[in-house]
This record gives sequence, C-alpha cells and structure tokens, in this order.
Amino acid sequence: MVSPFFVARLKICVLRGHTVKEFAKGRDLRMEPLIQMTNIFKTYGAGDVQVAALKQLNLSIFPGEFAAITGHSGSGKSTLMNLLGCLDFPSQGEYLLNGESVTELSDRQLSHIRNRQIGFVFQSFHLIPSLNALENVELPLLYRGVSRSRRRDLAARALEQVGLAQRMRHRPSQLSGGQQQRVAIARAIAGEPPILLADEPTGNLDSASGRQIMDILINLWRQGRTLILITHDPDVARTAPRIICIQDGSITQDSLSSS
Ligand SMILES: Nc1ncnc2c1ncn2[C@@H]1O[C@H](COP(=O)(O)OP(=O)(O)OP(=O)(O)O)[C@@H](O)[C@H]1O
Ligand SMILES: [Mg+2]
Repeated sequence: MVSPFFVARLKICVLRGHTVKEFAKGRDLRMEPLIQMTNIFKTYGAGDVQVAALKQLNLSIFPGEFAAITGHSGSGKSTLMNLLGCLDFPSQGEYLLNGESVTELSDRQLSHIRNRQIGFVFQSFHLIPSLNALENVELPLLYRGVSRSRRRDLAARALEQVGLAQRMRHRPSQLSGGQQQRVAIARAIAGEPPILLADEPTGNLDSASGRQIMDILINLWRQGRTLILITHDPDVARTAPRIICIQDGSITQDSLSSS
C-alpha cells in the first residue's frame, strides 16, 4: 500500500514546481520526517487546576511541507506551537526534530536549536520598541555570535526580501501593523532557519495587510522552507496544502487539499 506520507510528499513536490522525476530521485525532498511527535501530552498546572492542553498527540511533518494548524480558541494550537518551537517541554511523549530527541536536551541546547533551526512569527509581532527595524532583525544574529558587519548584511537582505529596504531605520512605532509584521518575518528568516513557525501572523492585521503577509510566507515556503502556520481563520488555513485540525487537545483531522 502507498503510504499517505509518500502521497503528501509527491503532492508538495508537484505544488512546488518540481518534476515527478526529481521527486523520484529524492533530489528536492528527503523522506525522513523533520518533525515527529509521538504520544505527546501537555498538562498545565497541578491538582484541581490541571488543564490537559494536549492529549496523546501524534504528528509528523516532512521537510518542505506547508501545514496549517487550525482549531477553536483554547483547542491547544499555541501550546502545540510552543512545543514544536522548543519553547516548552511536553509533559509526556517524544519529540524528534531532525531525528534528534529534543525532550532530553538542556535549556542551552534547546536555545541553540531554536536560534538555528526555527524562525518564529507571532500575532503581536514582539518587536523591541527602542530598536529600529534593522536592529530588531539583527538581534537573534547577535545572540548567535554573528559578526557586526555580517549581521548588518543579513538583516538588510532579509528586510529587502520583505519589501522594507526603505524603512530600515524606522522604529516599530513609526511603522504600520503590516510593516511591523514584515520586520518580524525578516527577523525570523535572517538567520536562514529551515523551519518557519507562525502563530496567527495575520490576526492583528486588516485583510489587505494580512494577504500581503500570507503572500510573503507562501513565497518563503516556495523557496524551500518548511512552513507551519497556526490560524483559526479557515480562509488562511485553505492556503496550505495540508490542514491539521485540533479539537480539545487532539488532532481530529489531517487532510491534504486536492488543488
Ligand atoms: N500557561 C498556561 N497555564 C495554564 N493553562 C494554560 C496555559 N496556557 C494555555 N493554557 C490552557 O490550555 C488550553 C490550550 O490553550 P492554547 O493557548 O494552546 O489554545 P489556542 O488554541 O492557542 O487558543 P487561541 O486560539 O485562543 O489562541 C486552554 O484551555 C488554555 O486555557
Ligand atoms: Mg493561541
């Protein structure tokens, strides 16, 4: 029987404009999961105030995929994103990132992985108000020990990629919401991480700015990144070839679009 993951890989390969021959040669995509979560539980609190936010969740995501995670408020989307992004530990279960178990790593090792492997985009931008766009984008590169001149180059290039070459010296308060989110995307991609995690990236934006942000994210996916997008907006979710629905801490649906 043909594995559903094989079919998923093939569809994504074709969506990204590769030929079936390239797929068969395995040139564009590896077949090993980039992300593999097995029997994940996440419980907050203790005693009477315990909240089971994720329950026995199993999830595999392959390199180059674009998956939307969707569900009602409180269903566990952000909890899952925090685990996927190594910002938090599961209470139980195993998480392999690139084949390596991240549940056993120290905080230092986790932050090392986060800094190199994952770019984050949040609903509320999380920019530092006192720094201009260039300095905001440079910050993760500074933590990574990248030299000053290289930082400037990478940050400027990332800002150009999101169409903000003319706004590099502006502080967040001098930018529109859509522009602030574009700075946040530039910050996420400046270090060239293979994975982009976006939690409601269009949630605070008007529809035109939201569409622009989605176009940028989809373009970054087409360039080869793995994109995981969390949204409660069905229209935004439908832009992804794979839609994963969460309800009450469990995956209730995991489907590939036919288009
Ligand atoms: N730090 C925390 N302490 C206790 N409970 C929490 C914590 N964070 C989340 N929860 C609970 O876990 C459940 C899942 O929350 P989560 O933030 O993952 O939902 P969500 O799907 O992202 O919702 P939204 O769409 O509103 O952002 C909710 O019941 C929430 O109240
Ligand atoms: Mg949330």
